[in-house]
Amino acid sequence: MLHGLFHIYRLGIIVNTVTVLLLAFILSVTGLFVFIWSLRWRLFDPHPNAAKTIFSEGEVGQVDEPSATPQQLQALQDEMGHQAPLDAAGQRTLSQELAERIQADRSSALVAFLFLSCSVAWLVVGSIAGLISSYKLHSPDFLVNDAWLTFGRMRTLHLNIIAYGWAPMAAFGIAVWMLPRLLKTKLMGGRFAILGGMLWNAGLIAGLGSIAVGISDGMEWLEMPWQVDLLLVAGGALAALPLVFTLQNRRVEHLYVSIWYMGAALFWFPVLFLVGNMPAIHIGVEQATMNWWYGHNVLGLFYTPMALAAVYYFLPKIIGKPIVSYNLSLLGFWGLAFFYGQVGGHHLIGGPVPGWMITLSIVQSMMMIIPVLAFSINQHLTLSGHFRSLLHSPTLRFIVLGGMMYTVSSVQGSFQALRSINTVAHFTHFTVAHAHIGLYGFFTLVMFGAIYYVMPRVLAWEWPYPKLISWHFWLVLIGFAVYAIGLSIGGWLQGLYMLDVSRPFMDSVNVTIPYLQSRTVGGALMTLGHLVFAFHFIAMALRHGRRVGPALFHEDKVGVQAAGAQSL
Ligand code: HEM
Ligand code: HEM
Repeated sequence: MLHGLFHIYRLGIIVNTVTVLLLAFILSVTGLFVFIWSLRWRLFDPHPNAAKTIFSEGEVGQVDEPSATPQQLQALQDEMGHQAPLDAAGQRTLSQELAERIQADRSSALVAFLFLSCSVAWLVVGSIAGLISSYKLHSPDFLVNDAWLTFGRMRTLHLNIIAYGWAPMAAFGIAVWMLPRLLKTKLMGGRFAILGGMLWNAGLIAGLGSIAVGISDGMEWLEMPWQVDLLLVAGGALAALPLVFTLQNRRVEHLYVSIWYMGAALFWFPVLFLVGNMPAIHIGVEQATMNWWYGHNVLGLFYTPMALAAVYYFLPKIIGKPIVSYNLSLLGFWGLAFFYGQVGGHHLIGGPVPGWMITLSIVQSMMMIIPVLAFSINQHLTLSGHFRSLLHSPTLRFIVLGGMMYTVSSVQGSFQALRSINTVAHFTHFTVAHAHIGLYGFFTLVMFGAIYYVMPRVLAWEWPYPKLISWHFWLVLIGFAVYAIGLSIGGWLQGLYMLDVSRPFMDSVNVTIPYLQSRTVGGALMTLGHLVFAFHFIAMALRHGRRVGPALFHEDKVGVQAAGAQSL
């Protein structure tokens, strides 16, 4: 017994922190190589046609863009080339599969509509809160008479509305719609998702009310009181149930990569949120560590995979071309699962936490380049030679630009995690710019594209005013560019000024003011774009306008439209 204890003690000395760090690094690299090897030998992917599972017979080569006008659709098809027509047997199979797809869409329509309606409402409210916060940063006398309108609360309200209102509602809505399509069956357990959504929104409203009156748990991203958070945990778990039920009833053998991403994200979120909110367990430095373990994981293991799942479905669907490398998509998934869990420490660089933990998080942040590039190369190769398709498809513009912003924000993030760069960027607006490049440029743009694709199928109605889609795109694109570029420059200068001992601190504040003003201009354009989007969404729900375009399926438009209309 004593002998055993002695060995454990000796092990404790040998297994010091550097060893732990090295072991973690070696383990992840080994895991990666084992994974590449297994892909090489096709151990993960027994179906060489796995990338085609989202297409019915004869659909490859056939573009599918529900928000395009007939002219745009024609131009998109011309860009992608025309296929030889199907023979009679192929035609029958395709019609059969399309009829089943209508059933699948019908089963998810109500649930998706409810989630997406909530997301749009939260988007508008959250943007206005962001705009007010932004204005206050260069005009601090604006709205100072009520406590709930002061910067500390308004900024926190903005973050929580976006992080727990817009983003998850949009992600759940899109996931619930994709599930039956990917599993070629009806959505099962939709009622649980609706109940989950109600609990979630009730919790969110209570949480925002608490923040507005000054009650907060005091940790960034986890401000809502933990008692209220229980509603979100229960709501999130209920919203994930349809995945489990629908999976059990699936009629496909192969689970497409989007299902992996969504399945993992819907499982990871309740775990993260529950652990993050457990009261009185983590105290002091441990609490800060746990705070950022949660903070980065919610970004990397919830929002990110949900948006990637959408890109992997909608991009190939719109252009009628399967992703070029299915194996790369799996490499992206496993790389994210291997490396993301340990990057949270990069938010605490310079803080009073163990050095090995920070170094580990920096190493893993760098390793993230692997799954990110796996995704970027795949997206690039899939579109390669067909970039003009972006001119013809309003949906694709959002999705592809969003995908590119995933690469930009992540590669930027990997370098921002290096101590030398973090020393300048930390505590500055540069980080805020990065946050918006990630959660706005990547996640939000992808969700906009996905919503433009699914809504015509959800409501069996076309977007009434196609020009508004362009207005939305250009307003948010220009606004976002002004926001991100201006704030990155201003934030970097702020960091350099703060590190310059010869300058008084106020210089680092004054230098940012023009950039903060430009952020308000950019943010106002984004907010205007969101108002246009919300107006269009409501007009569609109220069944304004009517185009005879490609909202439904390319097959037998009249018959299918009639079937779709009956479904609601
Ligand atoms: C490989 C990928 C990424 C890495 C390594 C990374 C790294 C970082 C680093 C180093 C910071 C700054 C921490 C600080 O100094 O305070 C940060 C902040 C942030 N990142 Fe990333 N990032 C990545 C991808 C993303 C993505 C894809 C998103 C959005 C979906 C995102 C959203 C954010 C947000 C919101 C913050 C600010 C958090 C806060 O302070 O409230 N990041 N990231
Ligand atoms: C869907 C749209 C939006 C998303 C996803 C989003 C996301 C975020 C995130 C993640 C943060 C925390 C950043 C950090 O702590 O590093 C944040 C803060 C902020 N956002 Fe947004 N935002 C959005 C729209 C807007 C708009 C339209 C504005 C208007 C200017 C805005 C202005 C701000 C401001 C002023 C802050 C606080 C920055 C600070 O504390 O210095 N956001 N937003």
